Amino acid sequence: MDGSRIPQSPPVLILLGPPGAGKGTQARMMEEQFGLVQLSTGDLLRAAVASGSAAGKAAKSVMEAGGLVSDDIVLAILRDRMAMPDCAKGVILDGFPRTTAQAEALDVLLAETGQQINAAILLEVDDVKMVVRIAGRFTCGACGEGYHDTFKTPKVEGTCDVCGAQQMTRRADDNAKTVMSRLDAYHEQTAPLIAYYADKGVLRRVDAMREIAAIRDAIGALIKSVVA
Ligand code: AP5
Repeated sequence: MDGSRIPQSPPVLILLGPPGAGKGTQARMMEEQFGLVQLSTGDLLRAAVASGSAAGKAAKSVMEAGGLVSDDIVLAILRDRMAMPDCAKGVILDGFPRTTAQAEALDVLLAETGQQINAAILLEVDDVKMVVRIAGRFTCGACGEGYHDTFKTPKVEGTCDVCGAQQMTRRADDNAKTVMSRLDAYHEQTAPLIAYYADKGVLRRVDAMREIAAIRDAIGALIKSVVA
């Protein structure tokens, strides 16, 4: 925490961008810096798959193929998570919304609770860079901290800097074939949200081709400018 003030209406920030843009990496840092709660629908869906719930069973094959899970399933999971008390601190949405229907449903959900979107932050990165980032990604299976073979290595090989666990994992959908399907899904179904949020006057663009720390600083400054 850096003491940044949180307004009366809890902030709602959206991180938009293609797979591998750095949404999860940046959302975790913003969570720490501003006391927001990171809500990653990808993480929530992976937890549902691991739990073997009905929603998880329905989502598993779609995620493995790189498609988008149905709006009904994603919305039910997100709505439950946003109703939890910790979200009263404000949220940073990572990987949601991903379709126009999800964006419209989010507007309805926020209207019910008197909240509004402070900013939809678009991480702009080209497709080639995104594939390189995803190919080198691994994650701590204990705390979820993300790493990269080249760009963000742990201080001690195989050991998480944050929690000290030695449980590094690689995601099942981080393979060349699935990555291309995920990218197609982004361009076809998620990219239209750029215009959706531009029309609402909340779109903010961030050059995400830079190093992690430079992007963190840009997003941090942006959040301070939109959160009173
Ligand atoms: P999800 O988990 O959301 O995956 P994604 O959108 O494909 O995004 P990623 O997690 O791959 O990338 P990221 O942008 O978070 O990048 P990261 O920070 O890890 O979704 C997975 C699946 O779930 C979807 O395909 C879909 O099936 C389903 N799903 C999820 N939400 C859904 C929804 N709303 N509706 C329907 N279906 C949904 O960074 C990547 C790597 O690069 C890391 O190794 C990192 O260390 C490194 N890195 C990050 N930034 C930089 C940098 N600036 N320079 C160098 N390296 C960097």
